[in-house]
Amino acid sequence: MAITLLSSPLQGFTDFRFRNAFHHFFGGIDTFYAPYIRLDGKMVIKSSYQRDLNPENNATLEVIPQVMTNDADEFLFVVKYIQELGYKELNWNLGCPYPMVTKQGMGSGLICNPEKINHILERAHNETDVVVSMKMRMGYENPEEILDVFPILDNYPLKNIAIHARIGKQLYKGGVNLEAFQKCVESTKHKLYYNGDITSVTKFQEMQERFPSINHFMIGRGLIADPFLPSMIKNNTTEYPQNRWQIFSEFHDTIYQQYDAALSGPTPIKMKMLGFWEYFSQSFSNPQKTYKKIKKAGNKKAYLQAVAEILNSERTIRS
Ligand SMILES: Cc1cc2nc3c(=O)[nH]c(=O)nc-3n(C[C@H](O)[C@H](O)[C@H](O)COP(=O)(O)O)c2cc1C
Repeated sequence: MAITLLSSPLQGFTDFRFRNAFHHFFGGIDTFYAPYIRLDGKMVIKSSYQRDLNPENNATLEVIPQVMTNDADEFLFVVKYIQELGYKELNWNLGCPYPMVTKQGMGSGLICNPEKINHILERAHNETDVVVSMKMRMGYENPEEILDVFPILDNYPLKNIAIHARIGKQLYKGGVNLEAFQKCVESTKHKLYYNGDITSVTKFQEMQERFPSINHFMIGRGLIADPFLPSMIKNNTTEYPQNRWQIFSEFHDTIYQQYDAALSGPTPIKMKMLGFWEYFSQSFSNPQKTYKKIKKAGNKKAYLQAVAEILNSERTIRS
């Protein structure tokens, strides 16, 4: 069965700069979800979201925009915006676990409110011709919440439901709940995509064996931690390319230069790259030492020196 791999959106990481560089250097991802658009009460699309979705910035990528809202008017406003840009599909985020969001009844805090979900889907389908897909956790308090939402979702021609197999209350802690995900597979007519903790080819194969009816898999953090992962999954191999660190180095320099040009002042670029290294470091021989070395680098010159040393030592260790 052919496998489709999707890049799960990571706000602050998988913007158009990252997506383009990723696609160019590593490949393996069929479709990228853009991080969510949030309106905060005003019917205005922030310029950072505009840049991220601008078709010129995504010319060689398959991208699906995402919205996080619990308001039908906001949803319809974003539909109009993305349709004007030429997008056909809008993904709806019912997964965000952070209390600031869930306490307002958004993200995974909306899963316990099937009536509201119904109202928004009803208006979206009656008033527009947008294709809607969902990205959900299985609940906020417990993984049965989603089971009460499925009968509502079954009434709409959704493209798919991507499920991160955790509940909101867990944040990112604990494991994924595969029994509860199996229950989801049995409880909806919609096409499900699996999401959660795919961090290696072996992990992917375990999921594939456990859920033979699933052929769409979304990878989030695992893709930043090991950008070769999607192409290795596609090629069914655990072997890295021989020039692994050269490719990584070129990818790193590409995103570094772009973020450096886009962000002003020394602190934002440092924080940006440190965020990436929290994940990157996981596929280095000594993750803690690697991360510490990057963290210690006080200025640009020291940062680039640290990166060069890390990559050199990796080339030596692994050769
Ligand atoms: C820093 C960060 C930002 C995220 N931003 C988004 C987002 O914008 N939209 C969304 O649907 N999920 C978001 N997620 C959730 C991921 O897309 C994904 O569902 C989750 O990390 C589980 O998949 P993974 O184990 O492959 O990372 C975010 C997760 C993290 C850690």
